[in-house]
Amino acid sequence: MCEAMVQGFLSKKLLSSKSITVAEPRQERKSELKQKYKLNITSNNREAAEACKILVLSVKPQDLDSVLASLKGALRPEQMVLSIVAGARISIISKGLAHNAIARVMPNTPAQIGEGMSVWTATPSVKKQQLNQARIMLQALGKELYVNDEKFLDMATAISGTGPAYVFLVMEAMVDAAVHLGFARHIAYQLVTETIRGSIMYAMKSGKHPAELRNLVTSPGGTSAAALYELEKGSLRTVLARGIWAAYERSKSLGEGKGPAPGV
Ligand SMILES: NC(=O)c1ccc[n+]([C@@H]2O[C@H](COP(=O)([O-])OP(=O)(O)OC[C@H]3O[C@@H](n4cnc5c(N)ncnc54)[C@H](OP(=O)(O)O)[C@@H]3O)[C@@H](O)[C@H]2O)c1
Repeated sequence: MCEAMVQGFLSKKLLSSKSITVAEPRQERKSELKQKYKLNITSNNREAAEACKILVLSVKPQDLDSVLASLKGALRPEQMVLSIVAGARISIISKGLAHNAIARVMPNTPAQIGEGMSVWTATPSVKKQQLNQARIMLQALGKELYVNDEKFLDMATAISGTGPAYVFLVMEAMVDAAVHLGFARHIAYQLVTETIRGSIMYAMKSGKHPAELRNLVTSPGGTSAAALYELEKGSLRTVLARGIWAAYERSKSLGEGKGPAPGV
């Protein structure tokens, strides 16, 4: 994710490679990043933290405690931390770093190609100018939305953060059904991806409500009506809503430090 951010900063000329320092523990990856982007690279997290104005925290949640411990007390009050670590509450990061100016972001995987949707918030210690800087940085990953309460991040986790998983599942199911009908897999994939992409573009450009668009393609006694009847009978809406609620509850319990789900 951090590499996607770096690519965005450099391609949009928001920052020069010399002004970015990356802390990376693995030698092989350090060399790769150095060669690819000509960044300043260190394996010392504290050294990177002390040098920066904005510290981006982009480690896996399981590595967070040790990284926070390695950085505790290293930051000056005027520095800002931008955390994209899924599920990590501001209070945990603030306590772990002994630092108050923190912005917390929930990005999603399309951010890796600059098509993400990031929802974020910040503590009152983050200054207006830093909020603007954070906004510009997040725009390197795609669209961003500021919310004024951290509780919205759990909701966003269930919609935009986890959303790509729902979309990929629907894609997979449609491709499999197309193969079942008799299409070759690569044709099935093209038909499904182009249909989803085109439908989203159409919905966004027309500005019409999805129900109106659906009605427009549903002619009396037609194929859409037959398919929609079966989808509603199979409780598609209820199942989707239940999935979204489950992701929301899971996000809240992860934020409270309740570890992996039972059976995982
Ligand atoms: N992937 C997504 O689309 C996505 C979406 C939403 C949120 N997020 C969040 O974004 C964060 C990063 O995810 P990711 O998918 O980009 O993970 P990733 O590719 O594993 O990146 C994590 C990076 O942290 C480095 N690292 C590990 N231990 C470290 C340490 N002690 N000190 C400094 N650096 C260390 C890793 O180094 P190595 O090169 O040695 O592994 C790696 O470069 C996660 O918290 C995730 O929850 C990701």
